[in-house]
Amino acid sequence: MTPLDYEFLRKLLKERSGLDLSADKQYLVESRLVPLARKAGLPGITELVVKMKAGFAEALTAEVVEAMTTNETFFFRDKVPFDHLKDTMLPALLQARAARRSLRIWCAASSTGQEPYSIAMCLKGLGPAVAGWKIDIVATDLSQGVLEKSKAGIFSQFEVQRGLPIQLLVKHFTQIGDMWQLNADIRSMVQHRQLNLLQDFSHLGTFDIVFCRNVLIYFDQDTKAGIFERLSRVVESDGFMVLGAAESVVGISDAFKPYPERRGLYRPNGTRNVKPGFAGIMPPKAVALAAR
Ligand SMILES: C[S@@+](CC[C@H](N)C(=O)[O-])C[C@H]1O[C@@H](n2cnc3c(N)ncnc32)[C@H](O)[C@@H]1O
Repeated sequence: MTPLDYEFLRKLLKERSGLDLSADKQYLVESRLVPLARKAGLPGITELVVKMKAGFAEALTAEVVEAMTTNETFFFRDKVPFDHLKDTMLPALLQARAARRSLRIWCAASSTGQEPYSIAMCLKGLGPAVAGWKIDIVATDLSQGVLEKSKAGIFSQFEVQRGLPIQLLVKHFTQIGDMWQLNADIRSMVQHRQLNLLQDFSHLGTFDIVFCRNVLIYFDQDTKAGIFERLSRVVESDGFMVLGAAESVVGISDAFKPYPERRGLYRPNGTRNVKPGFAGIMPPKAVALAAR
């Protein structure tokens, strides 16, 4: 890969997925894209770039963007957010939504499904407290590949051993050979949709809780600020946003304020100054390309 190839890929990835690669990540690009080039019958990354530059290679470009995403996830990742869900968010919302008996939760970079299904299992665990409630859990991701795996709800022994309490494995999964499938009642609680966080997401409606964990960490400050701004418009004023352990709004955006004494938990900041016209959405040309 030449320095010019690398610059082309850096720019493309920033525009298409928000991924902000520093100048020294050639090894990462090579480890992910050399296999993809070979699969496409090309000798290496230079030829891959030539093909993308020539145009009419939209499917290949989408594969490149997907190959560069990091999909690491596991059940009840970091534990603390799920404690906050059970001890803080759900008690507050069950009271606040008692009249309308509905809850909407968005998992905004859901990868292979462990996060939205962990949320679904928490809600199922509430039993009669949510009987008759309409509960929507919407799982979205840029990558179609991870969404397909998530929809199937089939996990390896290794995956179910990472973070999932044995009682929940026994209760909610069925063993199929050496794999484990989530039972249909939990799978049916989660709706899947492909969505790029750089694009407009107002059509999803509003949510009581948004989990947006371990994705913004790959973006630059302006991209994060734009996404926080747009997220604050879809989180109910008494709702919550949950970030990953290495993520924060502090010093980036005043669209959300930290929830006291609950690490990673935020509420929309009703008193913020909204900068008109600044929405952090990708330019129209990139939207059109990414949507193809
Ligand atoms: C590291 S995983 C995090 C999964 C889960 N939220 C967790 O914390 O375990 C990051 C996910 O973000 C997705 N992603 C990357 N860029 C994205 C974008 N621009 N829009 C939506 N999803 C994106 C990737 O495909 C990947 O599945």
